[in-house]
Amino acid sequence: MAPVAARSAGAVGVGVAIFISVALTTYLICDRRSKKKNIPRKNGLVEAIGNTPLIRINSLSAATGCQILGKCEFLNPGGSVKDRVALQIIQEALESGQLRPGGIVTEGSAGSTAISIATVAPAYGCKTHVVIPDDAAIEKSQILEALGATVERVRPVSITHKDHFVNIARRRASEANEFAQKQRNSQLNGKEDTAKINGDESDGHNYSSLFPSDCQGGYFADQFENLANFRAHYNGTGPEIWEQTNGKLDAFVAAAGTGGTVAGVSTFLQEKNPDIKCFLVDPPGSGLFNKVTRGVMYTKEEAEGRRLKNPFDTITEGIGINRITKNFAMAKLHGAFRGTDREAVEMARFLLKNDGLFLGSSSAMNCVGAVRVAQAIGPGHTIVTILCDSGMRHLSKFCNAEYLSELGLTPKADGLEFLGIE
Ligand SMILES: Cc1ncc(COP(=O)(O)O)c(C=O)c1O
Repeated sequence: MAPVAARSAGAVGVGVAIFISVALTTYLICDRRSKKKNIPRKNGLVEAIGNTPLIRINSLSAATGCQILGKCEFLNPGGSVKDRVALQIIQEALESGQLRPGGIVTEGSAGSTAISIATVAPAYGCKTHVVIPDDAAIEKSQILEALGATVERVRPVSITHKDHFVNIARRRASEANEFAQKQRNSQLNGKEDTAKINGDESDGHNYSSLFPSDCQGGYFADQFENLANFRAHYNGTGPEIWEQTNGKLDAFVAAAGTGGTVAGVSTFLQEKNPDIKCFLVDPPGSGLFNKVTRGVMYTKEEAEGRRLKNPFDTITEGIGINRITKNFAMAKLHGAFRGTDREAVEMARFLLKNDGLFLGSSSAMNCVGAVRVAQAIGPGHTIVTILCDSGMRHLSKFCNAEYLSELGLTPKADGLEFLGIE
């Protein structure tokens, strides 16, 4: 039989072991719970915009020897990076009093920005009126109408024409303001002249069919020239990238449509650390590559004002432009790369196969840009780009096998050989 002292020492040992294991289990359970508790609750849709994950794109990182990171903007509630822009534009317009609750936000866009405005506007009690060219894919108006926006499809003309869809959108905002003012006056005067007001016409349009009778005026979002777009990225996307990388990044690259993303992010990152290199990747037909690398945008014949329709010879959507917008003018760029449609298509297929990432055309082009940057600056660097929207938005074109085959763009690469990586 063991002596009493030894027996009690053994009991103490067992007791300590039990205590430690109970404490450890409790710690682990509490730690898990507290980690769960750390996921903050959001107040409404608006707070769910931004703070998107930054993911390591494993296939591209392994292939280039760089850490290639993608900001998952497709996870925003409205499905794209443009949610940030719509939110900033609407908030600033309400704060300045240029937009009233119940007012109509107008935009000339067939793309993600209109969808984001239509997503965000109801959260502020506002409405959306979108003017788009009548050759835009029909599903674009269907999505917008399903979101509650009114949609006007118009004949495509040059941007210099007063009836270009962007110019009509600008005009509709002024007309909504006049309409609302007349409604207010008639209520003040107690006159029953609503029918007269509704009979007012603009471009053959009856106001009453465009604006609701309780319309509180209009505001033209103007994503190309409105610097709220820049601020959305300078105050949001840029700082998030900085925090998510702990300030340890070497380069940023993205394509430009309005230029808001490259401008806001590049300006913020440069202010934090001037050694961070920022680049543009530009699709076919866009003049920005020339502008960044040579200082000239286009020949006289290519000037956007001289063209009738979409001047871009690319299937990528939302990127490429042939004029300098106020937003793009703010960009701090060190260089530019050209990307082709084939590279974007092959990249989209490669990322789907290797990483399970189902991305839209501009995201694919941005990833082409990330590889080009990796090749230019060499292995061992951290490069960030933007995953703007998902392939779901591109089912009828960029992500449609039949469409790609008609253009001779069926993807055929096994790996990244289309970018010179064997
Ligand atoms: C899907 C998509 N990706 C990228 C861009 C380009 O972003 P930015 O306008 O900030 O240059 C746009 C712009 O409309 C877009 O719609």
